[in-house]
This record gives sequence, C-alpha cells and structure tokens, in this order.
Amino acid sequence: MRMRRKKHGAERLAAQAKYLLEKPEAPISSPEPVFGRGGEMRLEIGCGKGGFACGMAAAYPDVNFIAMEKVPDVMVIAVETAEARQEERTQDNLRFFIGDAHDLPAWFAPESLDAIYLNFSDPWPKARHAKRRLTHRALIETYLKLLRDGGQLHFKTDNRPLFDFTLEELSALGLTPDLVTYDLHHSPYNEGNIRTEYEDNFSAKGFSINALRLTVRHAKTAEQA
Ligand SMILES: C[S@@+](CC[C@H](N)C(=O)[O-])C[C@H]1O[C@@H](n2cnc3c(N)ncnc32)[C@H](O)[C@@H]1O
Repeated sequence: MRMRRKKHGAERLAAQAKYLLEKPEAPISSPEPVFGRGGEMRLEIGCGKGGFACGMAAAYPDVNFIAMEKVPDVMVIAVETAEARQEERTQDNLRFFIGDAHDLPAWFAPESLDAIYLNFSDPWPKARHAKRRLTHRALIETYLKLLRDGGQLHFKTDNRPLFDFTLEELSALGLTPDLVTYDLHHSPYNEGNIRTEYEDNFSAKGFSINALRLTVRHAKTAEQA
C-alpha cells in the first residue's frame, strides 16, 4: 500500500502503544502472555488500515486477533482505527505488530495459530517477483508450520492471476482447499464475511472477489496416530 509519509507517525504509534506488540524474545506459543486469557489466536497478514481485524474482533469476542503490517505509516491508520472503533468490542482481543511476513517464525511458535488471513495481498504481477507474493509456496509452507492441526488458511483477492497462482502453489504442495469461490459476495460463503477496505473498493468498481480456505492436516507419526 503506497501512502504519503504520515506526520508524527512515531508519536501517533506511541499514543496507541497498548495495541502494539514488540517483537518477542521467544516466539509466542499461546495467547495467554499477550491477551491474559486462553482461546483461539488468529493472525491477519498485511492488515492495511485494519478494518477487517477490527470487524473480526468485534464479531468474535471469544477469539484473540493479531494483525500485522509491514509499513509503519499504514499501521498508524490501523491502530487509530482500532481505537476509534473500540466501543464495538466487548473484549480486549485485538493486537497489532509491525513486521514482515517472511519473519513470522520469529513471532509465532509452530502450531500456535488457529487461523491465518491473507486479504488482497499485493499481486506482484511480474514473474520475476513471484517470490515476493505472500502466497508463494515457501511462505505457504511457513504458514502451515505455524497453524495447528485443523487450523485454517483464508485468502481473498480481486486479482484473478494471483488467485490462480495461489491455487497452483497449493496444488504443487499437494494441498486441496476445502472452499473455493470466484464470486464470494454472490456465494453461500458470503454470510458473515467481514469486508476489508480493498474489498469494498474493488467490489464497488464491479470486480468479483475470489476466496479460498484451506484446512491444515499435519501428518502424524505412527506413535502419535
Ligand atoms: C493491497 S494492501 C491490502 C490491505 C488490506 N488487507 C485490505 O484488504 O484492505 C496489502 C497490504 O499488505 C502489506 N504487506 C505487503 N507485503 C507484506 C509483508 N511481506 N508483510 C506484511 N505486510 C505486507 C502492505 O503494506 C499493504 O498494507
């Protein structure tokens, strides 16, 4: 997301410090140290202005949400949105951090997450930039390690080439999504769908929204089975 440099960005982030996580010394393995309670812990990657994370945290008070974003000036907007919308939440269940998706193993322990959401990730259309796509197979493998058995990876985008690329990456890893739609808003899966800022913009322009969900199954050893 391109954005003009925010005035007083550091001060504005500091003013919302209660929402912001510092990089942990050891990867986070459960929600207790962060939220002071148990329950599910779900992550949004590339949260942009934060509308989806705010909507999810309000809609699912029993679930703990963490939203991460690479660009500090975009995070300014996300945490200020969280503060402006605080009355929608009945629980203290929303946190953010500034970081890069490639660094997630430093933030989260294996099998610590119940769900990961990728919403309208940057498409990186040039083939030579494929490795930068957040649904490149190397990153998908990282997500799979961080998700618990039965955890879910959710992806939605207006960008059909990126969606097709993602399906190919899953297939190359031997993975089959349990939900695929090329028109989320006119599908049965739209019920309860929380829209992101990009989703609102693109659907207002007439683009249909592609979405998929993958449920993770970790292979068990003979001893575990
Ligand atoms: C196209 S915007 C979509 C924002 C939001 N998810 C939405 O749907 O409205 C993609 C966002 O992902 C962030 N992003 C891109 N690469 C990232 C990375 N490697 N790690 C974390 N965030 C990233 C960008 O800074 C940008 O804010």
